[in-house]
Amino acid sequence: MSKDTLTITDNRTGKTYEVDIANGTIKAMDLRKIKVSEEDFGLMTYDPAFQNTASTSSKITFIDGDKGILEYRGYPIEQVAEKASFLEVVWLLQNGELPNAKQLEGFRNQVTMHTMVHENMREFIDGFRYDAHPMGILLSTVGALSTFYPEAKNVGDATNRRIQMTRLVAKIPTLAAYAYRHRRGLPIVYPDNDLSYAGNFLNMMFKMTEPKYRPNPAVEKALDVLFTLHADHEQNCSTSTMRVVGSSKADPYSALAAAAAALYGPLHGGANEEVIYMLRKIGSKERIPDFIKSVKAGEGKLMGFGHRVYKNYDPRAKVIKRLADEVFDAIGKNPLIDIAIELEKIALEDEYFVKRKLYPNVDFYSGLIYEAMGIPLDMMTVLFAIGRTPGWLAQWEELLNDPEQKIARPRQVYLGPSRREFVSIDKR
Ligand code: CMC
Repeated sequence: MSKDTLTITDNRTGKTYEVDIANGTIKAMDLRKIKVSEEDFGLMTYDPAFQNTASTSSKITFIDGDKGILEYRGYPIEQVAEKASFLEVVWLLQNGELPNAKQLEGFRNQVTMHTMVHENMREFIDGFRYDAHPMGILLSTVGALSTFYPEAKNVGDATNRRIQMTRLVAKIPTLAAYAYRHRRGLPIVYPDNDLSYAGNFLNMMFKMTEPKYRPNPAVEKALDVLFTLHADHEQNCSTSTMRVVGSSKADPYSALAAAAAALYGPLHGGANEEVIYMLRKIGSKERIPDFIKSVKAGEGKLMGFGHRVYKNYDPRAKVIKRLADEVFDAIGKNPLIDIAIELEKIALEDEYFVKRKLYPNVDFYSGLIYEAMGIPLDMMTVLFAIGRTPGWLAQWEELLNDPEQKIARPRQVYLGPSRREFVSIDKR
């Protein structure tokens, strides 16, 4: 008869152990009873980069990487992207269900009320060098927000937590736009509460001398969808960082600053920027075969391709590819798109990429749309961060409400020198 257990024989001792299997996992702590002697610490698993370790259970986002499926709270990403506004998605991620019209309206009002940041933040941003990367400014200013809301450290208080979560969703676009304006040497633009979440962000980015900024509806809609597509992606590098920092009961501004720092890396949220550099460097369709050859020779990566979890086409990339056509119809084509489409075609037919199951990920086409919208390269990861903020927060709150969680503290396998006597400096 089948049983939901795993029987392990330790060939060092000949002893046999039975451990429970639940949800396709065994508990790593159950392995600790496997010992060669009473003093033995017990067996651990070794899993650098957490390639096969579930660090949490979660009810927020489901991914089937082999089939290319992504769902927020059970809703397929394709449907969410088509039918929901970004703020509806924020509500869904944070509350588990879609909001009704009244709830959504109330939430939209709350977010709108919290878009302003303290004036001191302007002076703080002024202190950055004129050419500071906006992602560096964003993560520093988000961290600095914790000093404006010291009560945020009461992370066990559910009402207080929700206020900080709303503040963060509301203020991140403001900080992001301030960072951009600083870099351009332009005066900052205050939020316009008449506009949608995405429309207001475009206003704070691009308003010049006109009395009222009116976003292009196609761009506003596309940006809203792009935020939605980035809203959550379960236990990725930045979300895991949010959870690890949150597990020490740090306030959400500090934890989110750390998550943003993780996102900054070129292997994570920085990849969209790298894709554009790569496409510019390739320069023409004729040069694609040489570029592919250099990637296969290990001289660099095909940025925007490959994923730790997806071994199939990233469903977000499919939506973005379609979205790109709509945006280009409305505001003009990004000439790099032709190179990107050809590059994708050639790569998907090449044995190197086929064998390794490397497909376009979310970053392959997103940068092309951002660039067509007039968003500079170094703002692209910042836009990823705006979209990902509700996911980070939903995961953070889930962690705090999870009785199984404790402060995160991985183990190590020590391979350094064994104990030795200290050598004084004159003898070295
Ligand atoms: N171009 C060329 N080869 C690649 C690529 C790529 N983009 N990605 C993976 N490979 C190769 C890799 O060299 C390895 O080959 P081999 O088996 O011969 O050593 C094999 O494929 C498996 O790759 P891996 O490095 O073990 O895969 P990983 O799961 O550790 O890395 C990744 C995932 C996303 C970091 C990686 O695919 C990559 O660096 N891609 C380019 C950067 C990128 O587009 N990042 C955005 C990820 S999606 C957005 C996000 O979540 O932030």
